[in-house]
Amino acid sequence: MKTENRRAYISSLAHYVPEEVYSNQFFEKRLDTSDEWIRTRTGISERRFAFNKGTSELMLPAAEKAIARRGIDKQDIDLIICATITPDHVFPSTACLLQNKLGIKHCWGFDLAAACSGFLFALETARRFIESGAAQRVLLCGGDRMSAILDFEDRSTCVLFGDGAGAIILEASDDPEIGVFDANLRIDGAGKDFLYMPAGGSAKPPSAETVANKEHYVVQDGRTVFRAAVVGMADVTAEVMERNNLRAEDVAWLVPHQANMRIIGATAERMGVSSDKVMVNIDRYGNTTAGTIPLCLSEWYDAGKIQYGDRLILSSFGAGYTWGSVYLRWGIK
Ligand code: UT7
Repeated sequence: MKTENRRAYISSLAHYVPEEVYSNQFFEKRLDTSDEWIRTRTGISERRFAFNKGTSELMLPAAEKAIARRGIDKQDIDLIICATITPDHVFPSTACLLQNKLGIKHCWGFDLAAACSGFLFALETARRFIESGAAQRVLLCGGDRMSAILDFEDRSTCVLFGDGAGAIILEASDDPEIGVFDANLRIDGAGKDFLYMPAGGSAKPPSAETVANKEHYVVQDGRTVFRAAVVGMADVTAEVMERNNLRAEDVAWLVPHQANMRIIGATAERMGVSSDKVMVNIDRYGNTTAGTIPLCLSEWYDAGKIQYGDRLILSSFGAGYTWGSVYLRWGIK
């Protein structure tokens, strides 16, 4: 296998969101909040929840559709990566469950936990496997069933998130001008106290006490994360543009993580990109964590709005902290 100059590109993609829609009015009826507050502070109008599904069940339909669209035999997938912080179980991995559900015989795989940056971190990982020749076709799923870890009595978090997943296939491109060109990824554990789940891991295993104290839910200091996200996401994105000599007019689409409309706006402004070049679907899905970026890509692709050769900048910021930006050129004709 010749590996020199191999570039990885997205050869297929699809997404899945649960059918059940929960508007802001759903929360208005139960909590001291309003549609107006949620829309103006976050940009969210509604989201989907799948209360009786594991994340692998959100990823499965997306994966099946992505494979069918590519027209390949599913047995040609040699690596599965699932980006999620809401795996069906602590173990076995969601990748194992998905492999079994799909019936793929000769592959390996693993889960990758980087919260809202999970998709970008997995994309960079998958890209390296393709570039090195260690993998030929990677199935990469990003998604979360956030409703599993939300406190529906905490207005400061439960209104923000949703459930959903996307799947892409990554493989070697024939055209050297197509595929993933650059990634600028970061972590900083100094952010660990501002967005996290207190219990359920080895540091604080589940107990009657942790359940009683509601420690198995998302905890966020929204204002602190907001400030870090605005700076972090814009910084890495500006760096990626600079080191690839990209001007705003060269970029067809900015594909930002969908956590808050105001963070998205700040990143676009720093890039000098106009709002008509920014993918936004936070109004309909909220923050689906590792699902936001593939959900955007898949919806925009379905609508025929991404052209072969388009330059895309993908950007994210999330718990950890984890953040980053990826530059790619679109390769599906
Ligand atoms: O995706 C992972 C990364 N996460 C993020 O990027 C999220 C970053 N943070 C944010 O998006 C925003 O900080 C939030 C949307 C979470 C909050 O917006 P904010 O403008 O930063 O509001 P705040 O947290 O400063 O709260 C302002 C007020 C508070 O009341 P007081 O203390 O000023 O009286 C909150 O209690 O808004 C109150 N509040 C609400 N009011 C109505 C918080 N949640 C709600 C709510 N409805 N749902």
